[in-house]
Amino acid sequence: MADTIYPPAAAFAASAHADKATYEAMYAASIADPDAFWDAQGKRLDWMTPYTKVKDTTFEHSGVSIKWYDDGVLNVSANCIDRHLATRGTQTAIIWEGDNPEDSAHITYAQLHTEVCKLANVYKSLGVRKGDRVVLYMPMIPEAAYAMLACNRIGAVHSIVFGGFSPEALAARITACDAKLIVTADQAPRGGKATPLKANVDKALEISGDVPTLVVERTGADLPNKAGRDHSYTAAMAQASADCAPEPMNAEDPLFILYTSGSTGAPKGVVHTTGGYLVYASMTHQYTFDYKDGDVFWCTADVGWVTGHSYIVYGPLANGATTLMFEGVPTYPDAGRFWAVCEKHKVNQFYTAPTAIRALMGQGEAFVEKYDLSSIKVLGTVGEPINPEAWNWYNDVVGKGKAPIVDTWWQTETGGHLMTPLPGAISTKPGSCTLPFFGVQPVILEPTTGQEILETEAEGVLCIKDSWPGQMRTVWGDHDRFVSAYFSDYKGYYFTGDGCRRDADGYYWITGRVDDVINVSGHRMGTAEVESALVAHPKVAEAAVVGYPHDIKGQGIYCYVTLMSGEAPSDELRVELRNWVRKEIGPIASPDLIQWAPGLPKTRSGKIMRRILRKVAEDDFGALGDTSTLADPSVVDDLIENRMNRS
Ligand code: WTA
Repeated sequence: MADTIYPPAAAFAASAHADKATYEAMYAASIADPDAFWDAQGKRLDWMTPYTKVKDTTFEHSGVSIKWYDDGVLNVSANCIDRHLATRGTQTAIIWEGDNPEDSAHITYAQLHTEVCKLANVYKSLGVRKGDRVVLYMPMIPEAAYAMLACNRIGAVHSIVFGGFSPEALAARITACDAKLIVTADQAPRGGKATPLKANVDKALEISGDVPTLVVERTGADLPNKAGRDHSYTAAMAQASADCAPEPMNAEDPLFILYTSGSTGAPKGVVHTTGGYLVYASMTHQYTFDYKDGDVFWCTADVGWVTGHSYIVYGPLANGATTLMFEGVPTYPDAGRFWAVCEKHKVNQFYTAPTAIRALMGQGEAFVEKYDLSSIKVLGTVGEPINPEAWNWYNDVVGKGKAPIVDTWWQTETGGHLMTPLPGAISTKPGSCTLPFFGVQPVILEPTTGQEILETEAEGVLCIKDSWPGQMRTVWGDHDRFVSAYFSDYKGYYFTGDGCRRDADGYYWITGRVDDVINVSGHRMGTAEVESALVAHPKVAEAAVVGYPHDIKGQGIYCYVTLMSGEAPSDELRVELRNWVRKEIGPIASPDLIQWAPGLPKTRSGKIMRRILRKVAEDDFGALGDTSTLADPSVVDDLIENRMNRS
């Protein structure tokens, strides 16, 4: 069946930053002469010392090195705040919408400037210096944005840990970056409940050793305080001067670290730097969403994920936008909350994840119909492939067929969108992220030979041929791991970890991860992380974890567990193991299905055949393929007989 194609409306295209001809001309120019293209785009920022070099990058395996605007000097907070003050001092920078629908606030650029300068001075008074790392473990409140921008104002590097991670996971990240300060809040209200952030920090510090904390009084809960270690945000800010000059930073100085799951080992600290990242976040925000002065932009992500970094804070604020920050969840007080907020704040661009769309779709159209959504001009999705049913519902019910949908494919590592429609330029097909952004050269490789498939129609692994300014620069403290994770399997290319199909029109369709990373509700989870949490339990001998299709979450977490001899399987033990994983990693890693496996399918050399485990988890065991290399083929029969996912 032919794909339905939705061309951009003529009126939209006529006033968009890019129509089809502009996109094609700019794209061609960006590939023909990247230096000239990105030189011009670099001018979207204010530089304290202008750069003389633009692109200096190589993917050559022997010496992978990525530098952009290398000798330029700038400050990110000055670009996101100070330079807008003359023209936008009284404009709203951040609209904050609280968990409770009665709580909201507008913060102007002038107020943002004052708060960030004061907080930067508080950091200094707590001993934070240029190059030091600050861990943020925050609710979705304006102070989270202040805390990020105050870091780069003084040249400190933030590492945000999502508030849903457990004390154990937080401790690992505090230690990994040798944090000098932790900024947190007493509690994080979400969906009418309060996550005990400060209590989690206390537990984390028992593991990592004490680090000074700065605690925002979000709910005002009366909590224990460790004298000399814990500092009140309110008290510290009351003393602080609002005068803090932005620190001159080299374009390649680190801006932030963000831990993300890979196929093996502990999460990797993805490092983004100052100049190229901001150019790329700013440009993608402007073009992908067709952002125009005066628009209200809402990205529903959490600042704990890269989407929140690039499209709640850095991209929008670099562009002088009004960005909406939402503390709550889509279903509180009811499943109409997103649309109530869109109506209340007259949102123009709305950006969310397919998992949220699928969940809301199941609640019925009445929750959407109640609200006036006529302000919406562009709808975006991110985080996982969107199934055509969800795409169509988003298009018809939310967008009333009038708002173009941008399905943005990108990664923590890429800093910003790599493939996405531009809403005035590129016809969309439900489920396809369409075509590359400026400067991005996707290639599809044959998985085993690594040969680039040159035919238009192709399927294989997705790699990128050359660098773009938003690309990650290294893994924090481990450049070899950066090279081996991204540049070793397919030499000369950046390997994305995703599978991909290119159709006859040259459109790209992401088919999901080809490594041992699963995507649960748009959040990346390494199966190895869940496995190591499970085997840390005293009753577990061995565990193997795979993803399986899940109606709402996209993928669910399916665990095969072999118990220590003498331990009896029971439903109580299932609950115990589920809670154990939640404690070790966080609720986002909660196993959906746990199957007791007396044995795992292994080759004679002891390697677990994950392909078989995936098939059984998918309830698709008719085509298991060759099992003759298994040490004990009979374990497969047991796995099939006791499978947990039966459709
Ligand atoms: C997946 C989130 C299909 C993909 C920004 C990628 C997507 C991983 C899409 C990165 C999309 C993200 N269509 N798949 N539009 N967007 N993905 O690092 O597998 O949390 O590799 O970054 O999510 O997840 P991450």
